[in-house]
Amino acid sequence: MTIKTKRRADYMPPAFTISDVKMDVVLHPTAARITSYLTVKRLGNHHEKLILDGEKLVLNSVKIDGKITQDYEQTDSSLSIPNVPNSFQLEVITTIDPENNKALEGLYLSSGVYCTQCEAEGFRRITYFLDRPDVLATYEVTLHGNKNKYPTLLANGNPIARGEGDNGSHWVTWQDPHPKPCYLFAMVAGDFDVLTDEYTTTSGRKVALELYVDKGKKARGPFALESLKRAMKWDEDTYGLEYDLDIYMIVAVDFFNMGAMENKGLNIFNSKFVLADQNSATDEDFFNVESVIAHEYFHNWTGNRVTCRDWFQLSLKEGLTVFRDQQFSADMTSPLSNRIKHVRVMREHQFAEDASAMSHPIRPDEVMEMNNFYTVTVYDKGAEVIRMLHTLLGKKKFRKGMDEYFRRHDGQAVTCDDFVAAMQSVTELDLSHFALWYSQSGTPLITVSHQYDETAKRMSVTLSQHTPKTADQSVKRPLFMPVAFDCIDSKGNHYQDDEQRVKNNMLLLNEPSVTLQFSDVTSALIPVVLGNFSAPAKVKNPLPSEDLLAIFRFARDAFNRWDALQQLYDWCIEQYALGKPEAVTASIWDGLKEVVEREAQNHELLGECLVIPSFETLCQSRSLVDVEQLRQARRAFCQDFAQELATPLLTVYKNIHTGDYEYTLEAVNARRCRNVVLNHLARLPQGQELVCKQFNSSDNMTDTMGALKAAQHGDKEQFEKLLASFEQQWREEPLVLDKWFALHATQERDDILSHITLLREHPQFSIGNPNRVRALIGSFAFYNTAGFHAIDGSGYKFVTDYLLMLDKTNPQVAARIVTPLTQWQNYAPVYQEKMKVQLGRLLNEKGLSRDLFEKVSKSLA
Ligand code: PHE
Ligand code: ZN
Repeated sequence: MTIKTKRRADYMPPAFTISDVKMDVVLHPTAARITSYLTVKRLGNHHEKLILDGEKLVLNSVKIDGKITQDYEQTDSSLSIPNVPNSFQLEVITTIDPENNKALEGLYLSSGVYCTQCEAEGFRRITYFLDRPDVLATYEVTLHGNKNKYPTLLANGNPIARGEGDNGSHWVTWQDPHPKPCYLFAMVAGDFDVLTDEYTTTSGRKVALELYVDKGKKARGPFALESLKRAMKWDEDTYGLEYDLDIYMIVAVDFFNMGAMENKGLNIFNSKFVLADQNSATDEDFFNVESVIAHEYFHNWTGNRVTCRDWFQLSLKEGLTVFRDQQFSADMTSPLSNRIKHVRVMREHQFAEDASAMSHPIRPDEVMEMNNFYTVTVYDKGAEVIRMLHTLLGKKKFRKGMDEYFRRHDGQAVTCDDFVAAMQSVTELDLSHFALWYSQSGTPLITVSHQYDETAKRMSVTLSQHTPKTADQSVKRPLFMPVAFDCIDSKGNHYQDDEQRVKNNMLLLNEPSVTLQFSDVTSALIPVVLGNFSAPAKVKNPLPSEDLLAIFRFARDAFNRWDALQQLYDWCIEQYALGKPEAVTASIWDGLKEVVEREAQNHELLGECLVIPSFETLCQSRSLVDVEQLRQARRAFCQDFAQELATPLLTVYKNIHTGDYEYTLEAVNARRCRNVVLNHLARLPQGQELVCKQFNSSDNMTDTMGALKAAQHGDKEQFEKLLASFEQQWREEPLVLDKWFALHATQERDDILSHITLLREHPQFSIGNPNRVRALIGSFAFYNTAGFHAIDGSGYKFVTDYLLMLDKTNPQVAARIVTPLTQWQNYAPVYQEKMKVQLGRLLNEKGLSRDLFEKVSKSLA
């Protein structure tokens, strides 16, 4: 198969532009008719033909300035028209098939709702167009549909006219005055319940808020609406940014490939990130709803008003918007637990991506299928890069830089370089070296070494950086990074280096290595590095357990405190893996007991500190992982952890009373801590009763799921009983049942494959619904270590068989779930070989999608 790779370096401005779009859409399940009237203009002095993108379209007719023409050429993916005037009206009529659109890109009909998804290149599945983000047009869209079946007809902007047609149909015309790229186009038709509200902006503009949800789901909508208002207020307060239309609509749909989409004035959401109430949603679900609502809202400025010149610049909008939603969530909840959440994502997923064949910079250089680049690198590492800028410039200057960015680029399609240039204009700091973060892939490793000279009473600490080569780039240069740094002694005193290279606890590392000297110190010091995860790097700072416990006790930075324990757990698990569990001595256990006792009241910190690093995180500090050995080691350590700490853990569990359910910071932290503790206790005989009691008396989904997840570590029969009772209660609610599917899929059991096969027959399971597929198949591939990595290769084969099937209808989701297979480099050769066999099967498949082909071929290259 040959598929063209697109390169960032080959960017060319468009030969034509389209400034105005009028569309007339007659909805029909299998033959929707789209008439588009485009105002087209030649850009520059040339005679090239007009080449429009289009996929899976039936072409009915083409008119130029009102006259039918046959003078055009069609391919699978384009419509070319030669000899067009410099400026003209183009009318194109096409027919599409929404019902059989299972890829969920373009216009599709699922469970009675028509909706669209156009990012990145879905608009070309609706009509022929210059489907690229640097073509900005205003839109006027008229939707026609059956009035009974589709009482709600929506598109971007404001409704300007409506009326009735023949045969029980009606129509609505929408106008969006803001020029936008077509990836922000949206329309929806359905029969919904709607929640309405109003928001008044700082400057006094009244905005109507409308939230559309499935009939009967209205009671689960208010939290999303409240979140939206908080986000609107926050963006005004923090960045001075107001909403710019009279109406803001959000539609929740059950069939959606991603989380949500920021279409101008008409966000479309995966219902998972809208619907929430205490019975059906966990605290984490509430958190995610608020953060995704905010993310899409924030895109109105970072993404929509200022958009991307080309798709290689995706991080321009995504990295920045993730950073903004992270700031918002931290302000709404708490900085520490948020930061830990982001770092977990980086360590579990982004570092793994960097270490795989899919490694790419936050601004990629080469792409086959754009959908493959909505990655943790572009999004989350992209946000870390913005965060470093925020750290380097400080809050005030960063805001100034943002103001300048909007002043320069409002209404434009720009590049990451334009963003950095705006930031550069407000700071003395030279950002040219910093900009390397945009073009260099890979995870830098900061190695810390230190020496104490007892006679001279001098301590020296050296930090050196090295970025290992990646699949996409063999030469790496040293990066410019802010490294939060502190030096303490075992009693908790803090020390400043002689030359004061560390300023305000921050060291600017811009060379391969730097050495700090500390004079007149009477004992060896402990370097505390990368506070608040100040740069997206790995750190190698091997310290004995007593130093790690001292960091936990005395470091100023709460993230460092948490991280010290993570490092300690990692070390302990390594001892178990090496067959030396006795290296984890009584004094270490005592130190950990003390942690629990001392922090018993600090539910937020304790809750996070009692989480043992996941298997995936452990993999990132190791190479050629012997899966079975590491898994067993982790398990054995968890078991001993529960046993050794049983008494203080039990005390903590019993002393946390959360009362009636409330979604407040304090209550969330308390429940989180209690459930983390329960998860440990459940490994002990005395935990069984607690689990059951909590499950039966819970008045909210957080504690129910907390009990259910804990139950899997205890008595199997009891666990099965609780699972069955959960299913009984929620069998009509697929969104809730996804938690149940996921829990099944991550079970350690010998018959896991036949078990999942059975669940695929569950009345609520459907291969056509991405949420179901992710819950059952995705959870297995990503998180069932024992099953997926079964030594006989059966787990790999199982996932591959499924992907071969899924790829035929939804390649985008298939290409996501293949990720764990593409990360074979991390595992021991026996695993690698078996993973590659399955990747080979995929590669040999005739008609494999571009999405899977790109990831699979790169990972076998
Ligand atoms: N732009 C969306 C977001 O991050 C993500 C998305 C991409 C959704 C592609 C659908 C398709 O907010
Ligand atoms: Zn986004």
